[in-house]
Formats: sequence, structure tokens, C-alpha cells
Amino acid sequence: MRLSLRFILPLFLVLAGIAYAVAPLVDRLTLGWFVRDLALRSSLIANTLQEPLQEQLAAGKKAKIGEFFNRITQDERLFAVGYCAAPTGTVLASRSLPAEIRCSNLNRWEGPDDHLLPSAKGPLHVAVKPMVSEAAPAGQLVVVHDMSFVTRRSEETKRYVFYVFMALAAVVSLLTVIIAQLSWHGWISGMRSLLRGEGLLRQPEFAAQSTLPGFKPIARDLQRLVRELEAETRARDESQVTWTPEALRTILHSELSGEDVIVVSNREPYIHQRRGERIELTRPASGLVTALEPIMRACSGTWIAHGSGSADREVVDKTDRIKVPPEKPAYQLRRVWLTAEEEAGYYYGFANEGLWPLCHIAHVRPTFRSSDWAHYVAVNRKFAKAMVSEAKTKAPIVLVQDYHLALLPKMIHEELPDATIITFWHIPWPNPESFAICPWREEVLAGLLGSSILGFHTQSHCNNFVDTVDRFLEARVDRESFNVSFGAKLTAVRRYPISIAWPPEAEMVQKTVPDCRSSIRQMNDLPPEHKLGVGVDRLDYTKGIMERLRAIERLLELNPDWVGRFSFVQIAAPTRSGIDEYQHHEAQVRAMATRINARFARQGPPPIVLKVEHHEPQAVYEYFRAADLCFVSSLHDGMNLVAKEFVAARDDERGVLILSEFTGAARELPEALIVNPYDADQCAAALHLALSMPAAEQRDRMRLMRGLVAEFNVFRWAGRMLLDAAAMRRRSRLTDKTGRGAT
Ligand code: F6P
Repeated sequence: MRLSLRFILPLFLVLAGIAYAVAPLVDRLTLGWFVRDLALRSSLIANTLQEPLQEQLAAGKKAKIGEFFNRITQDERLFAVGYCAAPTGTVLASRSLPAEIRCSNLNRWEGPDDHLLPSAKGPLHVAVKPMVSEAAPAGQLVVVHDMSFVTRRSEETKRYVFYVFMALAAVVSLLTVIIAQLSWHGWISGMRSLLRGEGLLRQPEFAAQSTLPGFKPIARDLQRLVRELEAETRARDESQVTWTPEALRTILHSELSGEDVIVVSNREPYIHQRRGERIELTRPASGLVTALEPIMRACSGTWIAHGSGSADREVVDKTDRIKVPPEKPAYQLRRVWLTAEEEAGYYYGFANEGLWPLCHIAHVRPTFRSSDWAHYVAVNRKFAKAMVSEAKTKAPIVLVQDYHLALLPKMIHEELPDATIITFWHIPWPNPESFAICPWREEVLAGLLGSSILGFHTQSHCNNFVDTVDRFLEARVDRESFNVSFGAKLTAVRRYPISIAWPPEAEMVQKTVPDCRSSIRQMNDLPPEHKLGVGVDRLDYTKGIMERLRAIERLLELNPDWVGRFSFVQIAAPTRSGIDEYQHHEAQVRAMATRINARFARQGPPPIVLKVEHHEPQAVYEYFRAADLCFVSSLHDGMNLVAKEFVAARDDERGVLILSEFTGAARELPEALIVNPYDADQCAAALHLALSMPAAEQRDRMRLMRGLVAEFNVFRWAGRMLLDAAAMRRRSRLTDKTGRGAT
């Protein structure tokens, strides 16, 4: 409003000034018109009087002429009339004839211009007209008009013109302000959407303007500028930060005003199991837990997860919470309880028989059932309710984890529209054709688009997601900024490669590498110098364990020297054993290991040591430190943190990593021996290369990989997401302010 006044006032004054300047012009113009009119009128009067006047003169009635003139000058405007027979004579006139007019000076008013005679009553118009009798001159008639009416009219006209200009000024000012307001509003909307990272095309009310030629380039330039500034700030921030738990805490306090972090996942970080009289605490074999646990230790807050342990209910307080880790409590674990039916439908069914095979290219058919979907929706709602009840503010920071909770972001957004929801999808995202198989694809996509930020491990997963949204939803997808706008909600789709804590916990690397080498070999009845390979996975068909065993068999076929000198320990944590496909897979793996061992049994220790049991992280690290190589052969994997853990475990800079090209980790660790797990010969060659690799080459490769994992650790992963979330919150605050300023 203030802006409008600042604009309208000068405009109004300028127009008023013009009106004022124009008034004298109008005056002069109208005077000219009236003088011309009076001259004509005077001629007309003279013509009319010619005859009666001549008659009177001819009849010698000079005395009557004055009376005659007095009568006709009763007309409002005709002021006086006079007659001069000759310049030397006396004027015969009405009483009103001004004394200045005499027969001797009539020539003063004969010219074409000068007809005005000032008087006390106002200006008079004097016209001198020659009279004619029988074609001979017969004196002059003086016709005097009162011009005071001209002054009156002129005043009225001036006033009228002034009013017209003022009205015009008001209308023009008003129109200008309306147009300015509309385009200002448009610009502000555009700026707001730009600041939010939406781009101008996002604003429906602004779409018309955005199509104007010349406007799009400005929008693009602005967007580019914002992105460049962000990228610059990001690069500067990142180069200055050493990513530690402390750095993460600082970000939370400085950038997010100490907001509570709430993590929501299906899998819990600590499981309490009843073993007879005892309650045993285990840490699940889960990349998600490996990554998030150190984050929660650093940030405190609350972790909401399914309480799946047989003794979980026994150890929580009456609000279903327990402080963890037990040895040094740092955050709250809030457990959500599921019935057996819910777990069967939501976890085993829709999540792991449907979405899991759908997203992994591992040639297992996804199974989708309506009843599973119903449980999936209900359990997601249960988690949403728990989350909302844990929120201490209206704008908490929520980290939603994985494919079990795809509907949660939308549900949370509906309850807490100001929450910053960072969703991370830990598994791959398939191409749109594959995703199309899911009968509830639109609902899953819409659920995820309730997030403020949606993260994937790799850019190709981001691309696939955005392509899928483009194919199945009426959403606006900005391919430059990778922002998706759906149902008035903006989601930034970003790549955040997950990682592990760096440095690893001290207890993990407490035991020296030589001690680990000897203890593990002793434990498995292997000679001290026996070459050892290790694989650590959940017993899942996506991990390529069958392909791995086949590669080992091929190695022994192609290089029989290794028979009896090399063994491979496969740690396979039982997982999802309620699903047929997993039971079948376990049986196949067991059978294959038995067959290969039987084939090479006569020549010393078995080539394959299969351990289908859960191992705590410390035991796993001992195997990593004892091994000569680690083989990760996933057929398809979002990231695979086992590869990074192996690297972290090797502070002696020894050991070789063989890594499937179909893992996200392969993009970050090119110094590993990268293989196609479907190519048994290539994998066998890689195994041989690893077993024969000189120590110096092992060190060079391992040093580079350790540098990468150290720098791109999990604190950076979380920190990057939190910094982006903070920037988003800042931008939306700025948007609010800009919005207010515009009105
Ligand atoms: O890889 C996907 C994932 O959910 C991981 O995040 C986690 O490490 C793993 O699967 C564990 O699976 P589950 O929770 O079914 O044991």
C-alpha cells in the first residue's frame, strides 16, 4: 500500500500540474470563439437595422432613433447601439453607449482584430458596420455587446477542464497502480517459487506471464544464479567441515536451532530377545541401522521402529520407550507394536514380497496382494500416529527410512504441514516400466512426494524416480533442479550416497590384525597361512551368494593350486525366513556349498565355510581384519555398506575388495576389483588376482578407498541432508517474508 502511495502521488501531481497549465490556453481559445461569434452577431444586427433605421432617418425622426435603440438594447447581451451619419457628427445612440465611443473615433474599431473596450462592468465588444442607402454609403452603425458572459463562460470552462483532468489523473493513477500491483504480485510469486527452487513454471497464476517472450530467460537466469550460489555455498561449507559427530551436532544447533531429530524406520537398532531366563540384546544385520545408529548417537532425538524382539515389550517404559545404547544412553527408542497379521501383510507381504523384488533386478517375481496392501496402509498410519505423538514442535525434522514406509511422508505432511520430512530410499529405484507392475504405484509415489527431500544412493535411482513420477502422476517435474511439484507440495529429489561412521568404533579395531588372522583361522580349523576370503550378507537372493559360490568353484577349477590353500567364509544372517523365496534360497545356498565342498573335500580344508547365523558387528569386524579378500557380489544393491565396512576395518592397508558393478558402492570405490557377478569366469579371475596381489598394490588401492570412505562418511551423508533441509527451511521463511512484503 505504501508503495502504491509513493507511486500514485507524484503521478497525480503531474496530471494536476498539466491541468493547471492548460487552463489559460482554454481561456484564450474560448475568447477567440466568442469574439468571432459576436462579430457575426453584430453584422446580423446591422443588416437587420439597416432598413428601419433608413426609414426613420428618411422620415427625419432622429429623436425617435435613440428610443428605438434603447428598446433593442434590452437584449441581455446587446449592450448599446449607436449611429453616426458622418465622422464629424453627433452620435445617435442608446443611453448605454459608452462615452468613449464617438463619431470621430469610430475608425479605432474598424479593423479585423481590435474590438474590445474595457469598462467597469467588464469587457465590451465594439463592432462598426457601414450603412448603405440606395447603393451609396449612409453612415456607420456601432454595435456594442456586453462580454461579461464570456468571462463567466470561460471561468466555467476552465473549472470544467480542471475537473476533467483531475478525474483523468485519478483514473490513470488507479489503473497504473492496479497493473503495477498485479505484475508486482506476479513477480513476487515468481521470486517466491524460484526461492523455493520450483522455477517459475510451477506457479499456475504466473504461467501466462512465464510464457511471455523475454520473461523465461530472466527466470532461467535467476534459477541458475540461485543454484550456483547454493552450489558455491555447499562446496565452501563442505570443504571447511570435517565430518564428525561433533560437526553434525553443530549443524543441528546452528542451522536447525537444535530441533529434535525423529527417525522412523521399520527395523529397530537394538532388539531384545528372550533366551530362556536371559534377555539378550542384539544389533541387527542392517545397513540402515549401521548408517543411522551413529547419527542418532550424535544427534540424540527419538528413533521410532517396530519392536520385533521377543523381549522388547518387557524392557520399555509405559510410553513404549527405552534409552539406548544401553552402555551409554544417547537417544530414545520408541517401539511400535504390530500384530502377527500386520507384520505378515505389511512387512513380509507388501514390503518384501512386493516392493523388494520390484525394486531389485534379481529376477524374482514380485507378488502383490490387496490384503497385504491394506495392512501396509494401516501400519504406515500406525507409524504416522506414533511419529506425530513424538513431535515436540510443529516443525520437527523427520527422517523417514526405506520402502516399508512409503506412505508415511504424505501422512505426516497432512498432520504436520511445517515438518521437514527427509525420506531416504535405501534400495534401488527401478525404471518406470518395472515400477508400473505395482498395482498401487500412484499411491506409493504420492506417499513419497509428501517428503520435503527424497534421497537415493545414486543419480540413476533419482532419474528413474523422476521418470516414474513423470509417467504416472500429474506432477510438475523440473529436470534441471530435480524438484517435483505435486499437489501444491514441492519435493527435492537428491542423491546422497550413504556411508558408515568414520573412524570405526574403537572396540571394532581393538584386536590387532595378526591376532584376528590367527584367532579366526584357529576358530575355523584352518592352517595359519591359509588364504581366507570373506562374505558378509543377509541371506538374501539379491546379494548374489549363489553367484559368489559358483565363482569360487570356477576359481578352483581354473587354478587348482588354490584347492586346499584357500577357503571362503560366508557369513549369512538369516532374514525374512517367513517368505518362501527366502527359504528356497537358503536351501539352494546350503546345497551349493555342500556340493562344492564335497567336490574339493579330499584336498585339505573345505573351500566354503557357510555360517548361517547372526554375527554381532564386532565378530564381523574380526573376520574382515582376518581376511585376505572380501567378496561383495550383489546382483543389485542400493549402496552395500559391507564393502565400506571392510575398507574401514583394514587399518593395516591390506586386503582386497572384489565388488559387484551392480552396487552403488562400485561408483565410489573404483580401486576395488569391479566385477559382473553373473560372469563366473571374470569373478574367478578377480579372485585369483586378489589372492596373488602384491602387498604394495593392496596398500595403494586400500589407501585410496580408505581416504574416500573417511571423507564421505555417514556424518557427511546426514549432515548434507540436514544442511539441505536447513536451506529449505530458510528459503521458505524468506518466501513467507517476501509474501508479506508484497501485500
Ligand atoms: O537394504 C534395504 C534394507 O531395508 C536395509 O536398509 C536394511 O539393511 C536391510 O534391508 C534389512 O532388512 P530387514 O530389515 O528386512 O532385515
